[in-house]
Amino acid sequence: MGSRRLVVTDLDGTLLGDDHALERFRRWRTATRDGFGLAYATGRSRDSLERSIAAGELPDADVLISSVGTEVVDRGGRPWPGWSERFSGWDAEVARRALAPLEWLRPQRADVQTRLKASYDAPDLDPADLARLRQTLVAAGIDAHIVYSSDLHLDVLPAGSGKGAAADAVSATLGLDPTDVLVFGDSGNDLQLFSHGFLGTIVANALPELRRVVGPEVYRSPCAYADGVLDGIAHWTGMDRTRPLPTYR
Ligand code: GLC
Ligand code: MG
Repeated sequence: MGSRRLVVTDLDGTLLGDDHALERFRRWRTATRDGFGLAYATGRSRDSLERSIAAGELPDADVLISSVGTEVVDRGGRPWPGWSERFSGWDAEVARRALAPLEWLRPQRADVQTRLKASYDAPDLDPADLARLRQTLVAAGIDAHIVYSSDLHLDVLPAGSGKGAAADAVSATLGLDPTDVLVFGDSGNDLQLFSHGFLGTIVANALPELRRVVGPEVYRSPCAYADGVLDGIAHWTGMDRTRPLPTYR
């Protein structure tokens, strides 16, 4: 991947959600393959992501960041150099045991749990609940990165992981400046992408938990889903669009 710019986009609710917009993105990808690298950064498992690409539901990408930024592989499925080694001391099972007494945490399906990611469903947690959760982990000597999104999903990951940290590791290996990296999201598990100095775009259909992000590197697109991604790319790169994208209401 010799490109000078890298697009890092979330999938569900960002690139996915409007099939016509996804088609427009697919055309952009075909036309700009040499100018931009493409990375997906998703909460989904690597398996689910690779299946969607193989089935043609998603354009192919150069880098796959899966399981909320705990796994990173290149387009050939090779582990990103040095990434998983950072978390060799972590075992999500230890976190699961420590959190078992919190009966309001409902473990998600077995196939989304990994050695690095313990995921739960827990509706409408407030800051006090999250503080209790953090305290429980600290008391057990566990240094975790906690991600709460959509007022429902709770991911307990090793400290130093997450979509933003993973994108940071990828851009460092590729020798990119943070301003060569364009990031796109719609919900709380994308928050960390917006804290590394990358050029960010929040799609119009984003949830309030992400919309509260502010800063000079944040563009709020009036377009939704993949149209928001295309609009953000045009915004940050000054790229011309021959036809305007539909605006989201
Ligand atoms: C995806 C994952 C789930 C995670 C959620 C939010 O839906 O499958 O495990 O909790 O994203 O990050
Ligand atoms: Mg999303």
